[in-house]
Amino acid sequence: MKKIHLILISVVAILTVPVIASAKVDLTPVSPCINCHDTVTPGIVKQWQESKHSKVGVKCYVCHKAKEDDPAGFEHNGFRVTTIVSPRYCESCHPKQVKEFRESMHDEAALFAMSAYGVVSGERVEETITLGQTKNYKTNFSRESAEAGCLDCHGTVIKVGKGGTLINWPNMGIGRLNPDGSAGSCAACHTRHTFSIAQARKPETCGQCHLGPDHPQREIYEESKHGNLYEANGEEWNWNVPPGQWGPEDIEAPTCATCHMSGFGGAVESTHNVSARLKWELEPAFSWPTDKKYWIGKEKFPIDPEIARRYEKIHNLPPGSLKAVKTGLPNPFAIAKKFAPDVYKAYVGPGKWWSRGETRLDAFGGDALRSPDEKREDMIKVCNQCHVRSWAEGDLKKADKTIDVYNAVVLAIKKKYYDPIKKERLDEDIKFNGKSEADNLWHEIWHHEGRIWRMGAFMQGQDWQHWEGSYEVVDDGSHMADWLEKLRVRKAVKERLGIK
Ligand code: HEC
Ligand code: HEC
Ligand code: HEC
Ligand code: HEC
Ligand code: HEC
Ligand code: HEC
Ligand code: HEC
Ligand code: HEC
Repeated sequence: MKKIHLILISVVAILTVPVIASAKVDLTPVSPCINCHDTVTPGIVKQWQESKHSKVGVKCYVCHKAKEDDPAGFEHNGFRVTTIVSPRYCESCHPKQVKEFRESMHDEAALFAMSAYGVVSGERVEETITLGQTKNYKTNFSRESAEAGCLDCHGTVIKVGKGGTLINWPNMGIGRLNPDGSAGSCAACHTRHTFSIAQARKPETCGQCHLGPDHPQREIYEESKHGNLYEANGEEWNWNVPPGQWGPEDIEAPTCATCHMSGFGGAVESTHNVSARLKWELEPAFSWPTDKKYWIGKEKFPIDPEIARRYEKIHNLPPGSLKAVKTGLPNPFAIAKKFAPDVYKAYVGPGKWWSRGETRLDAFGGDALRSPDEKREDMIKVCNQCHVRSWAEGDLKKADKTIDVYNAVVLAIKKKYYDPIKKERLDEDIKFNGKSEADNLWHEIWHHEGRIWRMGAFMQGQDWQHWEGSYEVVDDGSHMADWLEKLRVRKAVKERLGIK
């Protein structure tokens, strides 16, 4: 029965194969892979049968046939196959998606994870990769726990060991570094072997990684009116409409993908560059527009003077204290170059996955390099399919204003309480893993509560914006004041008592 069914599908396929860039589809009715894998891994075969690929002759060997120069290739029942079907393998048929993915921040995710705990550079694990050895993060990291945490979202460096065994595998991190010199995993969103757009468009897919105290986009979305409508009615929406044709007649409220990626209502082009519609950097300690000069930290970013003066008065700071914030961010390439020169060389340079890798700017390309206002305009075009322009602009401007308040409040905490603790070296001898409680508090202020405040404001999560965000930042501001006072008193008492 099954075989007859497959033959029928293949016949249909012959008649309906679309024209795609240098696609080498397999139109033979039988596939030796399927014959065997039908019993070896029936789940995989079933999922593939349900996929669009099965309808157009993209069979197992079309994707799994190892490229000649791929070190992950191995002999398998008379065929040379690879288990890792990297973006390079999808590229011959889907060049647009691969290019855009390369121009986004998603494919740098593994390089970034390195900043935290050093490097997973293959068979040999450096001794220094354990506790507190790297500059950027000094928390309780070990290679073993990082692999099950950070790197399942960010990606590992996959290497081919003796006898073809894959090291740091399995891994589906979004920016993982593949043995063929490419980065990323398309299946992070298009789960194999259905490779569906419907799945990728649903918030659960993004929410697998975009959740938790430091980037709770999933939780914020669930709280928003949009998320509420998705929960209530999403099952009835049309999820399979091709990009470009998908629009407000198919869904009632947007999902993560709708706002950040989709071609929606014909108003804006579909993109795999998730950085292409972001006006702001909402992750760092201070926020500033996604503009070249700020990305490389060339200029400070001003705080609205009226708001700055207001907070200078409230916190009794000299005029001009809260004028502007520092910009710039860690550069993933510099981190890799320093901590993992072998990885850097394998992926960066002419003809490599990243042709350039000198500054953080080289992580971005295409539409991500437009002006912040152009990027915002694409976001508004999505909103505008369901809302009037003034509604959408009004809502996002409201969020823009919270950035000024956030920058002012957090800069005030830093200048007034945290900087003196560091300058007077008050917390030198009360650290664990290289961090004092004051350091951890500062980290939580911007990295957790501060992001929640900012992200909540932009994605209609009011409870997150306020009670989990701005309220917690201010609460921790008073804890920081308390630390400064306590540490100064402690120092004075110790000096009086002659305690070392
Ligand atoms: C004679 C039977 C047979 C044929 C033909 C066959 N396979 Fe397999 N394949 C297997 C078995 C058995 C395994 C191992 C299953 C396990 O470990 O549970 C396997 C494993 C695999 C793996 C995973 C390897 C790993 O360890 O990561 C891939 C990928 C794969 N096959 C692809 C293919 C492709 C593509 C074809 C067609 C070109 C093919 N197979 C043909 C039997 C077969
Ligand atoms: C559109 C390309 C594509 C097609 C077609 C395809 N695969 Fe895969 N396959 C992948 C990707 C992607 C992965 C995940 C590996 C990775 O992350 O790179 C994978 C993983 C696998 C694995 C190992 C992972 C596991 O869960 O065990 C096996 C085995 C496998 N495929 C067999 C098959 C078989 C059999 C077929 C045909 C019925 C097939 N594949 C068709 C892309 C494809
Ligand atoms: C040999 C060419 C070929 C390769 C290789 C290939 N695809 Fe496809 N893919 C196609 C074709 C053809 C379609 C169907 C286009 C259509 O009908 O709209 C398709 C459709 C898709 C879709 C849309 C599915 C839907 O629900 O509408 C996704 C997603 C996709 N491919 C992802 C991938 C990924 C990821 C890889 C690599 C792991 C890959 N493809 C490899 C040819 C290919
Ligand atoms: C649940 C998935 C997940 C885990 C686990 C995770 N991250 Fe992340 N990480 C993300 C996401 C998602 C973002 C992007 C957040 C945003 O843009 O708001 C991110 C952002 C980052 C950034 C900022 C990159 C930049 O653009 O500057 C760094 C650095 C980072 N993570 C390192 C780590 C380290 C180190 C660990 C482990 C200690 C870790 N992450 C654990 C998902 C994860
Ligand atoms: C497997 C984990 C994973 C999945 C799934 C995932 N992301 Fe991400 N995403 C990340 C990580 C990690 C980062 C941080 C990357 C970095 O800074 O290098 C990130 C960053 C981002 C950013 C910020 C880009 C920037 O320039 O700052 C956006 C927006 C984003 N993702 C949207 C999405 C959307 C929308 C989806 C679902 C359609 C999604 N992501 C699915 C892990 C994931
Ligand atoms: C962050 C999640 C995410 C990742 C990673 C991702 N995709 Fe997609 N993909 C989507 C979404 C969402 C859509 C639907 C876009 C829309 O609604 O306009 C999509 C659509 C597609 C389509 C259908 C395009 C069409 O016009 O029919 C293809 C093909 C595709 N992706 C291939 C890939 C390839 C190849 C990769 C790896 C380079 C990849 N995707 C990685 C989320 C993702
Ligand atoms: C109604 C549209 C909308 C929806 C739905 C939405 N977002 Fe957002 N998202 C935004 C806007 C607007 C911003 C702020 C963009 C800017 O920088 O101007 C944002 C910011 C982000 C950022 C921050 C990037 C940075 O600077 O670090 C990430 C990551 C993100 N969204 C992921 C998601 C995920 C994951 C979901 C689903 C769980 C989601 N978004 C749902 C509109 C949306
Ligand atoms: C697919 C349609 C659709 C898109 C796209 C869309 N929205 Fe909405 N939005 C809705 C619907 C429906 C409601 C609920 C209206 C109501 O409460 O009666 C809503 C509600 C809202 C609300 C009210 C929230 C509340 O708590 O009541 C805001 C604010 C909002 N949207 C902003 C935006 C912004 C900003 C964008 C673009 C970044 C956007 N929307 C994109 C459909 C959409």
